[in-house]
Amino acid sequence: MKPFYITTAIDYANGSPHLGHAYEKVLADVVARTRRLRGAPVHFLTGLDEHGQKVQQSAQARGIEPQALCDTVAVEFQALLKTLGISNDDYIRTTAPRHQSVVRAILQKLFDQGLIYLGEYRGFYSARQEQFLLEKDKVNGQWPEIYGEVVEVVEPNYFFPLEPHRAWLRDFLDNNPGWIFPSFRQKQVVEFLKEPLNDLCISRPRERLGWGIPLPFDEKYVTYVWFDALVNYVSAIGYGTPEFDKIWPADAHVIGKDILVPPHAVYWPIMLKSLGLPLPKQLLVHGFWFTSGKKESKSDIEKAKALGQKVESPLDFIATHGADPFRYFLLREMAAGQDSDFSATQFTARYNSELADDLGNCVARLLNMGARYSGGRVPAATVDEDPERTLRAEWGRFAPEIYTLGDGYQFHALLEKLNTFVKAINRYLDVRSPWKLAKSADPADQARVATSLAHLAEAVRLVAATLTPVTPQVSARILGLLGQPPIEKWDGQLDWGARLAGATLGEKVILFPKIEAEKPGI
Ligand code: MSP
Repeated sequence: MKPFYITTAIDYANGSPHLGHAYEKVLADVVARTRRLRGAPVHFLTGLDEHGQKVQQSAQARGIEPQALCDTVAVEFQALLKTLGISNDDYIRTTAPRHQSVVRAILQKLFDQGLIYLGEYRGFYSARQEQFLLEKDKVNGQWPEIYGEVVEVVEPNYFFPLEPHRAWLRDFLDNNPGWIFPSFRQKQVVEFLKEPLNDLCISRPRERLGWGIPLPFDEKYVTYVWFDALVNYVSAIGYGTPEFDKIWPADAHVIGKDILVPPHAVYWPIMLKSLGLPLPKQLLVHGFWFTSGKKESKSDIEKAKALGQKVESPLDFIATHGADPFRYFLLREMAAGQDSDFSATQFTARYNSELADDLGNCVARLLNMGARYSGGRVPAATVDEDPERTLRAEWGRFAPEIYTLGDGYQFHALLEKLNTFVKAINRYLDVRSPWKLAKSADPADQARVATSLAHLAEAVRLVAATLTPVTPQVSARILGLLGQPPIEKWDGQLDWGARLAGATLGEKVILFPKIEAEKPGI
């Protein structure tokens, strides 16, 4: 069976990871874990984009070789993946021989087909963005600050014509309306394709940029950034070997909105078509995180650090509150595809209410009452009255949405609805008040106590199961407290049942210690 092949953008190796990188990996991880839970084999790839001017310049600035810089940065990015609990199956580095040889093979193949020619490039070049700019990129007659220093360059270079494929790409988009998620991004691509496409310059003279993969047909040049970076999606799975056909095409490329048009939505499909390969099935394009209205960027963080300022990175929240609450927050807060703001206030508000007060409280109540009223075991449910029926009906309404919301990348809505269910569990307990019923001598009331504990335990199990792709460690911990192993497949696990009857409950724990609000003046 062909695995569900999911990739992320490969991060630039010229600085430390930041929130934007973390979010993208978490988003892709949740999709990957969801697929696995639904029984599909998954191949999940992420990696590091190591060549190019920026890396060369950053290394120079530090007085080290580019490879040494990449090696250090790779350790840092991979450590973040581990901390975040990312379940990638592979990690591709573009300096790895397995990648370089494929880039060269692909370039040679396209060159042999006559699809690459030597021309003369003249234009304005931004080293910071590693791209030539057009007059239309100017704002009020000036190059915007994001481009850094812009210099005029005239040099012979190799080109890959795009225009001959424009009509084909437009037809493809017309016939595949859901190719890009969210759909308004697909419309942007269609808009972009209304204008003729310039030939893509795919090389840089080696004397100007030494840190790249040499062109196989002209070693005086290296490949330009996108012909190197995009190829990672096929080099990592063994392009040119029988293994490759078992995995390609990708089912989802997860990327940020800044690298959709033109790299992923124009260059990449045209490159694949020219190679005779099928296109990826979908592009999942997420928005940008801002901190206090500003784009989260490594250069800001590094600048502040260099000035000796205390920088609070959103990534610090992982160390203070754990990877899973962080993952929960990212997915709960940002509607995939839209932009969001990260603030300590909002993180604290969601953590304290949804995790500590709602979910943490359910689990604490279960463990407390289980120890007090049922000898630390989950009793069997023997009563079926209105409160039970209401709670089960609540689950019955929500459960069928778990798959559909996940398929539509509506994780924020999924978590919101799950939180509504968690609140319903706490309401159920308030209505039942087992602590009052426990004082009654009536055996019917004792049966209600046992039933309410059974319902509480089952509801908590279902919440932990649902949360597994988002908070894998916390879910495993909750299931452990219910005497259950972690859930590997969802099949049958999201149905309300009686499997917990007789299970031993764990010791009381506080799963989410409340975050104390900072007191003014301290
Ligand atoms: N190396 C290229 C991608 C090549 S993919 C074949 C690159 N690297 S990057 O490090 O600049 O960005 C990596 C990913 O992080 C991109 O998908 C980008 O959109 C994403 N993010 C970078 N900053 C971001 C935010 N502030 N918010 C959310 N994601 C953002 O581009």
